[in-house]
Amino acid sequence: MYENDSAAEMYDLLYQDRKDYPAEAERVARLVRERNPGARSLLDVACGTGIHLRAFAELFERVEGVDLSRPMLDVAAGRLRTAGPKGVPLHLGDMRELRIEGRFDAVVCMFSSIGYLRSTDDLDRAVGAMSRRLEPGGVLVIEPWYFPETFLEGHVSGHALTRDGRTITRVSHSTREGDATRMELHYVLADAGGVLHRSEIDRLTLFTREQYEAAYRRAELKPEYLETSGAGPGFFVGTGA
Ligand SMILES: C[S@@+](CC[C@H](N)C(=O)[O-])C[C@H]1O[C@@H](n2cnc3c(N)ncnc32)[C@H](O)[C@@H]1O
Repeated sequence: MYENDSAAEMYDLLYQDRKDYPAEAERVARLVRERNPGARSLLDVACGTGIHLRAFAELFERVEGVDLSRPMLDVAAGRLRTAGPKGVPLHLGDMRELRIEGRFDAVVCMFSSIGYLRSTDDLDRAVGAMSRRLEPGGVLVIEPWYFPETFLEGHVSGHALTRDGRTITRVSHSTREGDATRMELHYVLADAGGVLHRSEIDRLTLFTREQYEAAYRRAELKPEYLETSGAGPGFFVGTGA
């Protein structure tokens, strides 16, 4: 998963076309400021290629990102070179540990990245680590993966994009495997040099709503679950004391 430069680059090209990242960042900033009107700093956990971070840098004075994948962070570094007067520090790290200095008025974990964790112990560790990076009154926003009862067995999706002499297609097929989604992804990239096919299997845990809420409570945050209109998985929001 996102383990090499071409995978990170394909992810970046496809998803910036597929999702409205600036609108999502504005929505999250609103959720934060409704609970902490003076919020000035934000940490994006599992920031990927930094597309939300670029938008967050316009909305918060100080933003930083952390991700487990070096190739994803390399793409983020290119994107964020000119963002914000003080730049955007990017850290290689695991959301279950977060060995990062400093605290933030908001910590966010977007696009179901939390679903890559395999167990409720890991979920507790990650939510605990994120909550410890919050300033007093800080807000933790997590966009979960689907719940067992909202996951659609056999779900398929696809996307195609042509830009700068390159065409990329992505198709996915998801099935349930125990307490997780098994998502089979195929990418085909065509450019002047030829055609490249790659595929991967992603496994995302179908944590229950109660498991997310329990992780927030263990981290001494009061959880709220907010549904998103349409088919999105919603948001968990919690504010520290
Ligand atoms: C679906 S991508 C989302 C990236 C970005 N947040 C976005 O919205 O485009 C999932 C990201 O989670 C990261 N990730 C997965 N497990 C992680 C972990 N344990 N700690 C930190 N990052 C992780 C991956 O490297 C990848 O960049």
